[in-house]
Amino acid sequence: MAQDEKKLDGKIKGMDFGLLMRLWPFIRPYAGLLSISLLLVFLVAGLDVLVPFMTQKAIDQYIMEQAGSRPFIVFGAFFFAVIFLSFVMDFFQALLMEYSGQKIVLGLRTGLFSHMIDLPVSYFDGHSSGRLVSRVTSDIENMNEMFTGMLLFLFKDLVLMIGIMAAMLWMDAALALAVFAVVPLVAAGIAVFSTLSRTAFRTIRKKVAEINHSFSESISGIKVIQTTDSADAFLSKFKKINGEHYQAGMRQIKIFALFMPMIGFLSTVCVAIIIYYGSVRIMGNEISLGIAVAFISYTKMFFRPVRDLSEKFNMLQSSLASAERIVKVLNLAPVEDRADTGSGPLNVIETLTFKDICFSYHDDEPVLKEISFSMDKGESIGIVGHTGSGKSSVINLVSGFYRPVSGTILINGMDYKRFSLEKIRKRIALVMQDPMLFTGSVRENITLPDRDVGDELLEQALAQANCSFLQERYSGLDTVIHEGGRPLSSGEKQLVCIARAFAFDPDLIIFDEATSYMDSQSEKQVHDAMKKLMKNRLSIVIAHRLSTVKPCDRILLFDNGRIKESGTSEELLAMEGDYFKLIQKEKIGFFQ
Ligand SMILES: Nc1ncnc2c1ncn2[C@@H]1O[C@H](COP(=O)(O)OP(=O)(O)O)[C@@H](O)[C@H]1O
Ligand SMILES: [Mg+2]
Repeated sequence: MAQDEKKLDGKIKGMDFGLLMRLWPFIRPYAGLLSISLLLVFLVAGLDVLVPFMTQKAIDQYIMEQAGSRPFIVFGAFFFAVIFLSFVMDFFQALLMEYSGQKIVLGLRTGLFSHMIDLPVSYFDGHSSGRLVSRVTSDIENMNEMFTGMLLFLFKDLVLMIGIMAAMLWMDAALALAVFAVVPLVAAGIAVFSTLSRTAFRTIRKKVAEINHSFSESISGIKVIQTTDSADAFLSKFKKINGEHYQAGMRQIKIFALFMPMIGFLSTVCVAIIIYYGSVRIMGNEISLGIAVAFISYTKMFFRPVRDLSEKFNMLQSSLASAERIVKVLNLAPVEDRADTGSGPLNVIETLTFKDICFSYHDDEPVLKEISFSMDKGESIGIVGHTGSGKSSVINLVSGFYRPVSGTILINGMDYKRFSLEKIRKRIALVMQDPMLFTGSVRENITLPDRDVGDELLEQALAQANCSFLQERYSGLDTVIHEGGRPLSSGEKQLVCIARAFAFDPDLIIFDEATSYMDSQSEKQVHDAMKKLMKNRLSIVIAHRLSTVKPCDRILLFDNGRIKESGTSEELLAMEGDYFKLIQKEKIGFFQ
């Protein structure tokens, strides 16, 4: 985070246009409104600068010269009109800006979500969900601040300050220059302040992230913490981070507490200069009293944005860092944009072939080495092997989450790349180790992508998947699933996942350790459902319990990314190799 911001330090001055260009599609629909808002900023600043100028006229031409009441009333009405107009324009300017900002952020958040959900699975290997969540929440919120206000407010402040300085020079250059002598001090103050507060600001943000992390980690690990009686240790760790956050916050407050009175002091110095030098010039008849009064108003007006600017500068900086993080995600190519997918028609998967497939997640660590196998409709392949031997990686390739480094995957005898991933995935069902159920009803969970599946088909899928428990113990298809799949047990969750696989009548069905978290009763149920699902389809069954793969037509024993043994269960047993040893071990059981 801090590094992101450091990189940005240089960019803020030149304003990164690449960043803006990438966000432009989200801004464009509201560019017209924003331009009107910008125009109003100019007008409001102009009117604001006009007010002290009119005060001067009022004093010099009407009060000092006692011009009588009629012109004075006309002038007063005009004065009031200017102030009222400024108020109205200010209102519409703020309204337009807030409206556009909120709309931009609305679109941006949806855009980010829809982009993220299409990213290749490999992207999520290197990014924790916590950090991605903060993209859609706090980063977008920061952007919100940037659009709804900061940029335009900063701009408004600058316009106002320049306008004020111009008006002062125009009224009386000598007095203006005398007041401007303070400006370098103000500039130096701002520079020191923004450097100091930026450091404090960054520390605070870092500590907030640490607090979040510590909190969520403790919650997800609550059972471990309580059973190991380590609550105190976690509490003291949390206290330490929390204390550091407090100290960074206090540092920030001290910096502000020092800066704000300092700016106040400088503003008073300016007023003193005006009073002293102004009276000298009034007495020399070089300027009028009205001008001196106007100068005092201008000085006050000038110092207000100075305070704002320095505060907003920090916010702008963190917004830009957020913008950059968001753009980074938006710049990643989604799955279907990859150049290596074709658009050949695919109605049914009848054969699947791996030909000399080599694969690695990282360049230098081969995970699969020259894997070759082939299967036809109605056939099942079981894959066994130690944890880390590459079994799930085979599935990652079949599902198109990753691409092989070399070798080819063939579907119906044709290169896999000829088909779009969408078409291939439509024909595949994947039942994984952790049954994934989303919050919502069981019906919604089964009909995920296609809401039109009729109840009859659904009931059929549930029956085939041995889901009668849903009727018996819960409320059938309308059972409400909460976070983490509650209230179903893990065996029940898996059966619902199998029903989901049934509902779409896939050609290729994959089970990746689908029964590994289960008691033998649920396992039996799942096995039974699996058997039904495998009929007349291609199926790949990964398991470390050999009883699960035993009925498969062919079994591949993986060892360190290679197929070490292959054949039917009987053939492998006869070889008396690794498979044989594994079976022996499993027979002896856990307590050998
Ligand atoms: N997303 C990933 N990124 C990097 N390495 C991975 C990833 N997934 C698995 N691996 C590594 O690849 C090897 C094979 O993993 P995997 O196919 O999951 O094995 P299995 O399913 O047989 O337990 C392991 O060494 C594992 O650490
Ligand atoms: Mg695995």
